[in-house]
Amino acid sequence: MNIQENKSLKSYNTFGIDVKAKYFVSISHITELRDLLKNKAYPNIFILGGGSNLLLTQDINALVVHINIKGIDICTEENNHVIVKAGAGENWHAFTQWCLTQDFGGVENLSLIPGNIGTAPIQNIGAYGVEIKDVFHSCDAFHKSSGKIKTFTPKECKFDYRNSVFKQEFKGEYIILNVSLKLTANNHKIKSNYGSISNELEALSIDTPTIQDIANAVIKIRSTKLPDPEKIGNSGSFFKNPVISALEFDALNSNFPKIPNYKVSENEIKIPAGWLIEYAGFKGKRFGQYGVHKNQALVLVNYGNAEGKDIKALSELIQETIHRIFNIKLEAEVNII
Ligand code: EPU
Repeated sequence: MNIQENKSLKSYNTFGIDVKAKYFVSISHITELRDLLKNKAYPNIFILGGGSNLLLTQDINALVVHINIKGIDICTEENNHVIVKAGAGENWHAFTQWCLTQDFGGVENLSLIPGNIGTAPIQNIGAYGVEIKDVFHSCDAFHKSSGKIKTFTPKECKFDYRNSVFKQEFKGEYIILNVSLKLTANNHKIKSNYGSISNELEALSIDTPTIQDIANAVIKIRSTKLPDPEKIGNSGSFFKNPVISALEFDALNSNFPKIPNYKVSENEIKIPAGWLIEYAGFKGKRFGQYGVHKNQALVLVNYGNAEGKDIKALSELIQETIHRIFNIKLEAEVNII
């Protein structure tokens, strides 16, 4: 194991924030992880996956353990389904593209999401009408204090909108080692009803889309709205879309009749945070090295050399402004460290 000191994390977080890890190690096998945690030489451990849902505001005075466990296995094949197990360190987008080469369906709507397989269930990644929970079969996770490996079923993961047990009661307790997904091997369930996907397919005159057509549409939409982290640092949506009660919505709607809204249950309405932030005038605003993306107001960006604390301050200014105008509390989706 090669433990490095004072390592820059700039290339390990999609925001591209240049903070240092006191110690850093990349783990490619479970035995290395076991040895490392057993010898207790490093009391403070910080687990790092794809770094795509993270805003680093300070140096990390701990051993940063980068989970780099690789491998993709087709575990079981039935008539219509396959169970595919992928190591936590596999890149999510590369995995979705591999699935297309195998003609395995279920993750095509989740193309081009940054980050790794192992962190995808933690926040139940989702886009264009699909969440990972829709195809999740199980995951193996290492319990840090006991050293035991537990297999989590979908029920045990308690998936919710950008949420799971790994962000709630088991926060920081488990390290996900691999994730198994149940994918279709034929008779794919095409999900093309999300507005922008159906528009995209219509423009191309595609009536009966394949999973590859869906992936192409998603990649096209994402590329126009969301900045490529290789070019402009970002962490996707910075905030969750707030869910308010029907009563609160009625009050809001009378002041802001154009506010877009989606019914999530009898009494709950989801409001696109991007619309609120745009209304408040932040869309495309640049403050030197950081700002709000010009094509999607939900995305905060680092133009090169921003500091995490500046982006955090901007996120707080946005939260305060939204609260003042709409009386809505915006919750960060990104983990701020
Ligand atoms: N909108 C605006 N201005 C903006 C952005 C959005 O008015 O600058 C409004 C529009 O009414 C638009 C609506 O918001 O129709 C929805 O916008 P979009 O389809 O871009 O989706 P979103 O709600 O902003 C969510 C996810 C994204 C995901 C897309 C597509 C959250 C927090 N974000 O964004 O996920 O890609 O839907 O499914 O739920 C991520 O989590 O990092 C992420 C990018």
